[in-house]
Amino acid sequence: MKVTPFTLERFFSQTEFNVRYHLAASAIQAWSLRELLSLANDPDLQFSLFATRLGYTEPEGIPELRREITRLYSAPTDPGHVFVTIGAIEANYLLLSTLLESGDRFIVQTPYYQQLSQVGIDIGATALLWQYHEDRGFDLQEFKALLDQKPTLVMLNTPHNPTGFIFSPYEMRQIADLCLERGIYLLSDEVYRELGETLLPSIRDYSSEAVSIGSMSKSYGLAGLRVGWMVGPPEIIARCAAKRDYTSLCSPSIGQHLALTALRHRNKIWDRNRRLRLRNMTILENALRTNPNLTWQKAEAGVVAWVGYSSKIPSEQVGWELHRRGVLVAPGIFFGQEGHFRLGFGGNSCELEAGLAILLDYFKKIE
Ligand SMILES: Cc1ncc(COP(=O)(O)O)c(C=O)c1O
Repeated sequence: MKVTPFTLERFFSQTEFNVRYHLAASAIQAWSLRELLSLANDPDLQFSLFATRLGYTEPEGIPELRREITRLYSAPTDPGHVFVTIGAIEANYLLLSTLLESGDRFIVQTPYYQQLSQVGIDIGATALLWQYHEDRGFDLQEFKALLDQKPTLVMLNTPHNPTGFIFSPYEMRQIADLCLERGIYLLSDEVYRELGETLLPSIRDYSSEAVSIGSMSKSYGLAGLRVGWMVGPPEIIARCAAKRDYTSLCSPSIGQHLALTALRHRNKIWDRNRRLRLRNMTILENALRTNPNLTWQKAEAGVVAWVGYSSKIPSEQVGWELHRRGVLVAPGIFFGQEGHFRLGFGGNSCELEAGLAILLDYFKKIE
């Protein structure tokens, strides 16, 4: 199979570990192992973690973790619906590469997290792009029009990267019903679901045939555990599991045990992460307000902002010029759209303020 470079990841590989102010990350600030363990406030925990066997685990994930993941879903879910993967990225890859075939059509939102469109395109399927509008988000009428082209799969991302848009329960119900009526596979990348004001609805609340993709990375700040999951019909999981036997076999044992600890204490983690998100969003709003040439729709969930600028400079050039000044943003072209960049505001608040000051100074000069 042809593999088109994942442009954002290639850019990050050259930039993200050598920059002063990283304002491109899509996750909330990472926790240290010490912070995570002290959050649990359980003196026996360290000892039980030390006893963890560092062998392979069950391919679907350790049973306790799968059980804990079911608690994130209010629709009837049992561990048989849960497949633990190496991050959401593996779940997305397995699903798209298993369910799509050459010649198929699939709907995907744009701007996009490249994986969600590229895997299908590289297989030989055609991506039907569902365009974001600054004034109204993703329009359901446009979705219905795309359905006339007879897609076999819909790849949703809600809350959405890079805009922070979320579908309302009404819209999710409509999308789910339309897919069910037509026998269309419905996948929903929900890695920011825990990072709104509350735990947001899942597509699984509206369709037992749909697949929800989640992760410990973005909303929890535990990307280094490399634990994600899919929750969906057992038949789909079985097909993905058969494919994963040829790649990674299982998610890391220690990552799964730490993910279990984190999920058992999720309310404390969500609480800190949501407070940080709100504080940083205010910093961002106040900063962007000072330059009317920089536009954005306030993110409804998650910690990424999709910022438009009026200069004609290509976004990749903007990315490199800012990098030279010590600030990292993610160029819009890597999400399929020029004139924008994605700004991650989930990190340290002081660093966000300092990085934004450099960014604003840069845009004052070029706009
Ligand atoms: C929408 C979306 N899905 C999936 C991923 C992959 O995340 P993970 O670390 O869980 O593999 C990302 C990472 O940027 C993302 O933004």
